Amino acid sequence: MQIRKEPKNHLYPFHSKISATQRQDMLQQEPRLVWLTGLSGSGKSTLALRLEHYLFHKGYKVYLLDGDNVRSGLNSDLGFSAEDRRENVRRVSEVARLMLDAGLVVICAFISPYAEERELARKTVGADRFTEVYINCPLHVCEQRDTKGLYAKARQGLIPDFTGVSAPYEAPAEPDVEVQTAEESIEDSLCRLIGFVEPRLVVRRESTVNC
Ligand code: ADX
Repeated sequence: MQIRKEPKNHLYPFHSKISATQRQDMLQQEPRLVWLTGLSGSGKSTLALRLEHYLFHKGYKVYLLDGDNVRSGLNSDLGFSAEDRRENVRRVSEVARLMLDAGLVVICAFISPYAEERELARKTVGADRFTEVYINCPLHVCEQRDTKGLYAKARQGLIPDFTGVSAPYEAPAEPDVEVQTAEESIEDSLCRLIGFVEPRLVVRRESTVNC
């Protein structure tokens, strides 16, 4: 067991005996975090589900973390203040980091409205393993769709701090991929997303498995 030299808070984290390369060779994929950000109703979950479905059936080991689901379990103690949203993203990024270390492809679909917290997610998993996807859809279109009826409630003042209505959304300045869900079909958006992500999941070197 290899122990790091400087203990912090009397903790002694250690490294696994299995290397990242060994895991990649076994799983035959490069781990990657695909982070989808956008307004409520922009199409994040729909695209994320379709991407997960596509990759799974192509044989990739992939798992989707989605705001509504994670907030029903691990993050059920969090609300929608700026501080709680930051904590939401911090915890999810740490979970994603562990899943990436295990060798998985992870898709995250969170409004994640603050540029700073998305930057934190990028740093947490490492920029080389991170893809930021901006699900761009104008507020008035999301509001027209209002699939969950939340915008109507927010306009009535029944939901405080609602993104786009009474809380901010900072669009990514330089996303790796941007899809415009009000202007293109879900198939076209998915196609572009897959076109960017899939080539980056291919293991880029010769197998090095040895005992
Ligand atoms: S985030 O801002 O912290 O990233 P997250 O993606 O986890 O948000 O959760 C968003 C989901 O929470 C929305 O799809 C919606 O169903 C629900 N929700 C409840 N209250 C709010 C609110 N005030 N603002 C935005 N979404 C909300």
